[in-house]
Amino acid sequence: QKGAYKHFMLKEILEQPEALRNTMRGRIRLGGASPPEIRFGGLEPLMERLASARRLVFCACGTSWHAALVGEYLIEQLAGVNVEVEYASEFRYRNPILARTDGCEDIVVVISQSGETADTLAAAQFARKKGILAIGICNVVGSSIARETDAGIYLHAGPEIGVASTKAFTAQITCLAMLALKLGRYRGAISEEQFEEHVTALLSLPAKMAEIFAQSDKIYEMSRVYRYAHNFLYLGRGYNFPVALEGALKLKEISYIHAEGYAAAEMKHGPIALIDRFMPVVVIAPTSDATYEKLRSNIQEVLARGGSVIAITESDNDDLDAECEYVIKIPKVADFLSPILAVVPLQLLSYHIADMRGCNVDQPRNLAKSVTVE
Ligand code: M6R
Repeated sequence: QKGAYKHFMLKEILEQPEALRNTMRGRIRLGGASPPEIRFGGLEPLMERLASARRLVFCACGTSWHAALVGEYLIEQLAGVNVEVEYASEFRYRNPILARTDGCEDIVVVISQSGETADTLAAAQFARKKGILAIGICNVVGSSIARETDAGIYLHAGPEIGVASTKAFTAQITCLAMLALKLGRYRGAISEEQFEEHVTALLSLPAKMAEIFAQSDKIYEMSRVYRYAHNFLYLGRGYNFPVALEGALKLKEISYIHAEGYAAAEMKHGPIALIDRFMPVVVIAPTSDATYEKLRSNIQEVLARGGSVIAITESDNDDLDAECEYVIKIPKVADFLSPILAVVPLQLLSYHIADMRGCNVDQPRNLAKSVTVE
């Protein structure tokens, strides 16, 4: 039930702090006499195989594919395990090279909110047919993917009804961050002190996310200003490159405005030609990002061409206030957790714009919640 909320999507955006708590509940042990620990019931017997895998191959579609891209950064940076991300729809059609050697195997990880996406399910089935271990990360309990994988993790984000995925995305990244930390600790890539610090940061996310909602009025006002734009560009780097893709997908699918997400440095390889005063550019520019100064240069390049910039940065950063049309501030967190917060204003922006344009927010045209056909 959507209760007092106008749309399921809005309810689900605002439910995210609680969804994240539920994703982490019972899986994190911190404090007390024993060392800090993250546990995933279904994966415990597989930790040695996961930690020594040659590659983890993530397969997913749409928003889940964006979460997988964040997962690639997380697991490579924090655990030093090689990850590749595939569109589930492409994976099985190109005869992928998959290793089965003991102690140096490829493991397929399928990610899906519904657990019913035809291509993602087929990727898991394809892997298993080849003797490859398939792990599922899904939200819907008892879904086809949950049943047809060797082991898995449930998101516990609660039912997601709006076609546009919101809380499942942040729950997926939270799960992947936990997996990355667990693998990193297991492999000795992170020390116990670092692990404890990162886990503490993870646990602080729900409260920090709630702080973003305090800026709802500003995001609403900004949405009013841009609601008639025909095109949007979203730019981000590193952990937030997939967030740029996700922001653009959210806007297109529910407001029918054309939007493109890019790795910011790619702008000068083509999209910069599109920039004029009618082109809003959303730049995800947290100072925790190692390439923050380069993102600032991208902002200057957009401004020099008359474009209007909406920046997402941390609350203690005033660098961008004078130059950008709008600056949405998110609480400061370690770089690897910033996607979980940075996506929230983008979800709200697309929600308000779609609603102001009179679009059917929860059931956009031509789209279904679960894509069960190829
Ligand atoms: O249920 P899944 O996560 O497998 O769904 C994958 C995509 O169909 C889904 O994320 C789609 O892109 C959403 N409508 C995006 O908001």
